[in-house]
Amino acid sequence: MAIRSYKGITPAFNESVYVDESSVLVGDITIGDDSSVWPLVAARGDVNHIRIGQRTNIQDGSVLHLSRATKNNPDGYPLIIGDDVTVGHKVMLHGCVLGNRILVGMGAIIMDNVIVEDEVIIGGGALVPPNKRLESGFLYVGSPAKQARPLTEQELSFLKVSADNYVQLKDEYLAEDAS
Ligand SMILES: CC(C)(COP(=O)(O)OP(=O)(O)OC[C@H]1O[C@@H](n2cnc3c(N)ncnc32)[C@H](O)[C@@H]1OP(=O)(O)O)[C@@H](O)C(=O)NCCC(=O)NCCS
Repeated sequence: MAIRSYKGITPAFNESVYVDESSVLVGDITIGDDSSVWPLVAARGDVNHIRIGQRTNIQDGSVLHLSRATKNNPDGYPLIIGDDVTVGHKVMLHGCVLGNRILVGMGAIIMDNVIVEDEVIIGGGALVPPNKRLESGFLYVGSPAKQARPLTEQELSFLKVSADNYVQLKDEYLAEDAS
């Protein structure tokens, strides 16, 4: 497993977190309880920080980075991901803020200073340009991503189910590693 320090800061998480040994985590990253990071994820907390909440899954091949502070933007853009978030395969998250119970579809790209409110689905392949705010309770699709329709009750409840499924899966992987 490539867990690397950068400028004296090492990625931090406890034994309830599953991090696949092929993923690379660098620097100022914290990961909350029961979250999981799947094969070939690259997450680089070097010129700012990455915060990942609880029961959140970052699926295979996703890339997580951020933007440094500048004179005009003294905080830069860290990457903040909330609780019960499903980040699908090969997603790019860059310097954005994701709330809770969100599904980011496979291959989506979310750029700097985007805010995704709680309970949003972003369709596979969507591109969310910088500085956009995605409103709670809606599906967004396309490139550039547009609000498509309100989420159904079934989709809203699936957001937590999806996160819970991944908590169960990572527990199975942790048990496998321990055996
Ligand atoms: C966005 C999504 C949730 C919509 O599913 P859906 O309920 O079948 O979609 P709808 O029936 O509301 O589709 C409405 C329209 O959007 C189109 N559409 C569906 N998904 C789309 C997407 N990702 N991007 C662009 N358009 C999409 C449909 O083709 C349809 O177009 P039409 O009206 O011209 O036929 C689904 O397609 C998706 O992308 N899911 C992501 C799954 C994923 O990546 N999970 C993580 C890995 S486990």
